[in-house]
Amino acid sequence: MPILKIAFHPDPILRQVASPIDSADFNAPWLAKLAHNMVETMISRDGIGLAAPQVSQSIRLIIVSTKTGPLIMINPELTKKSLLKDTDEEGCLSIPNTFGQVKRHHSVQVKFTELDGKSKHISAKGLLARVIQHEIDHLDGILFIDKAKKITDNNYTM
Ligand code: NI
Repeated sequence: MPILKIAFHPDPILRQVASPIDSADFNAPWLAKLAHNMVETMISRDGIGLAAPQVSQSIRLIIVSTKTGPLIMINPELTKKSLLKDTDEEGCLSIPNTFGQVKRHHSVQVKFTELDGKSKHISAKGLLARVIQHEIDHLDGILFIDKAKKITDNNYTM
C-alpha cells in the first residue's frame, strides 16, 4: 500500500475545517483505501494518530493507534469530556521536531462511524483520549501548537 505525503505546517489545508463524510460514502472503496493508506503512513512515520487533512484530504476521518491495533473513525464527535484535565507532551507528524505541553480532558466519549458503516460509541482515557482530541482538533483546523505551553524545537525554547 502506498505511503501518503504528509502536509506540513504552515500548509493552509491544515487550517481548514474538514467536511463531514456523507453516509453514501461509508462503504465506498475510495474511503477504505484512503483509511488503510493512512494507517500505513502513520505506522511508517512512527505516529500514534493521523487525521485526513494531514494527507491533504479535507474530510472528517482520523486514525488512532490502540493496544489492539489502529482504529479508523469516520465523522468522530466528542459526546462527553471529563472535567479533569491532564497536561502532557505532544508532537505532530505535520510539525516535525516540535513538542509542547498540552492540557486535554483526561477522559472522553466519542461517537463515530466505522468503515462498514456501523456507528460506534466508545470511552477513552489517558493517552488514547489525548490522541483522539488531538486528531479531532485537526479536523477543525486546530494544531497542538495553538494550545501548547513550553513549545520546544530542535534549537529554541519559547
Ligand atoms: Ni497532529
